[in-house]
Amino acid sequence: MTSLFVMCFFLMLFSSCTLANDNYNSHIFPRPLVIEYPEGNEFQLRESLEELRLQCTSWRFAVEANNLSPWKTIPPECAAYVEDYMTGRAYSYDLQRVSRAAGAFAKSVELAEDGKDVWIFYVDETLLSNLPYYAQHGYGLEIFNHTKFDKWVEEGLAPAIHSSLELYRDVTSLGFKVFFLTGRSERHGNITADNLIKVGFQHWDKLILRSPEDHPKQATMYKSEKRDEMIKEGYRIVGNSGDQWSDLLGSSPANRSFKLPNPMYYIP
Ligand SMILES: *[C@@H]1O[C@H](CO)[C@@H](O)[C@H](O)[C@H]1NC(C)=O
Ligand SMILES: *[C@@H]1O[C@H](CO)[C@@H](O)[C@H](O)[C@H]1NC(C)=O
Ligand SMILES: *[C@@H]1O[C@H](CO)[C@@H](O)[C@H](O)[C@H]1NC(C)=O
Repeated sequence: MTSLFVMCFFLMLFSSCTLANDNYNSHIFPRPLVIEYPEGNEFQLRESLEELRLQCTSWRFAVEANNLSPWKTIPPECAAYVEDYMTGRAYSYDLQRVSRAAGAFAKSVELAEDGKDVWIFYVDETLLSNLPYYAQHGYGLEIFNHTKFDKWVEEGLAPAIHSSLELYRDVTSLGFKVFFLTGRSERHGNITADNLIKVGFQHWDKLILRSPEDHPKQATMYKSEKRDEMIKEGYRIVGNSGDQWSDLLGSSPANRSFKLPNPMYYIP
């Protein structure tokens, strides 16, 4: 929008400039300049791009607020929008905001002496970023393919989500137990552990993966059951950081749950 006005202003300056000598030709610079000239197409283009950006922002808000569940892929017309969001600064800012809010809450808690205060982190798109994988698969435009995704997991090359690494360091130094709870299967335990360690998550108190009997369960059910077990073992789940609503809904919720942004995929 701004550059459009700059362009109009420039043309007006230019035309009043030519008006000053006698060569002014009103057909060359009709008013209003931008709407009647070929630039008018550019104006309409900008307007419709702005409209699309608003529509896709509105879609993303509805996704983050869990109003659209379940959904399978991102809307095709928002493919470029999601790519921009994920690869630009917006995603990092959103991640940082969540992590700082979580850190402030963690610092406000007075921990008991018994070592039973827990912070749960989920793994994919919470501790580890699969952005290199999703960049090859349309940032959520393609329907999720387990076979392909498993190959990526088995490479063990997922980078850390830096804001989560900061939160992880904060909560561990405050004295929380940290439990990592993931939908990844037990057979990926070793590679997941290696990957986590390699990118800075050097220590955890539990890494919980899906056993074969957990496989048919929906994520909300599986993760709730695992939290129920923690409660039975006498732990207090103070904080919970996850990018999926299925990380945060269900039984044995944390005192505070923090939702990280993820407009690329939805896991029920
Ligand atoms: C998933 O990817 C594999 C390997 O590329 C392919 O053989 C399979 O057909 C794909 N599955 C679906 C449901 O698209
Ligand atoms: C993963 O397996 C390799 C080879 O068996 C082993 O050296 C490594 O310590 C294991 N990593 C973890 C985190 O258990
Ligand atoms: C967490 O919730 C429980 C149950 O409502 C409450 O007793 C406890 O004080 C809360 N702890 C924190 C740190 O907010």
